[in-house]
Amino acid sequence: MTEIDQPNRMVGFTRMDESTKEDIALIFTESKKFLNDRLVDTMIDLLDSLEGPTLGYQVDRYEHSLQTASRAYREGARTDLVVAALLHDVGDAMAPANHAELAASIVRPYLDAESTWVVQHHGIFQGYHYWDRLGLDTNAREKFRGSPYFDTCAHFCAEWDQVSFDPAYPTLPIDHFVPMLREVFTRPASGFGAD
Ligand SMILES: [Fe+2]
Ligand SMILES: [Fe+2]
Repeated sequence: MTEIDQPNRMVGFTRMDESTKEDIALIFTESKKFLNDRLVDTMIDLLDSLEGPTLGYQVDRYEHSLQTASRAYREGARTDLVVAALLHDVGDAMAPANHAELAASIVRPYLDAESTWVVQHHGIFQGYHYWDRLGLDTNAREKFRGSPYFDTCAHFCAEWDQVSFDPAYPTLPIDHFVPMLREVFTRPASGFGAD
């Protein structure tokens, strides 16, 4: 056991501008163990939090998430898009007003740019399929027509997301997607230090 692995090791500082290199090495090691290395479990916990209330739908949001990912997978989508499909609604519980933004922030360091963009914009693209019932513009997505990711996001919603409220669909279980979550969330995170 190295010194840094000993339980109850603690930094000497109470403010970061008084930290030593060893202090920072210690907190990064501890953070990695308790945050980064647990990311897959954390994602599964987030999905689990969607289980239960159906909010009037015929399936709960956990089932919806797995079903969306199942359709992406069965169509042969690449891993990043399948994981995007699985996690696109995990922001629901904490950010009902901007759940797509929250989910995009969670996946951005790990997924490719297209998949992240799809997660971030899926709400307005989903609107194409029902916003007229709310008196809203179903073509609000048109402002993104110039994006290279427009067609993928439109397809994501049309074929995977907006149709995944079906209790009769043979949805794949979470275990099927764990290896994909593991692949994605063990990548080095991009963007650290950029904000
Ligand atoms: Fe959504
Ligand atoms: Fe959704």
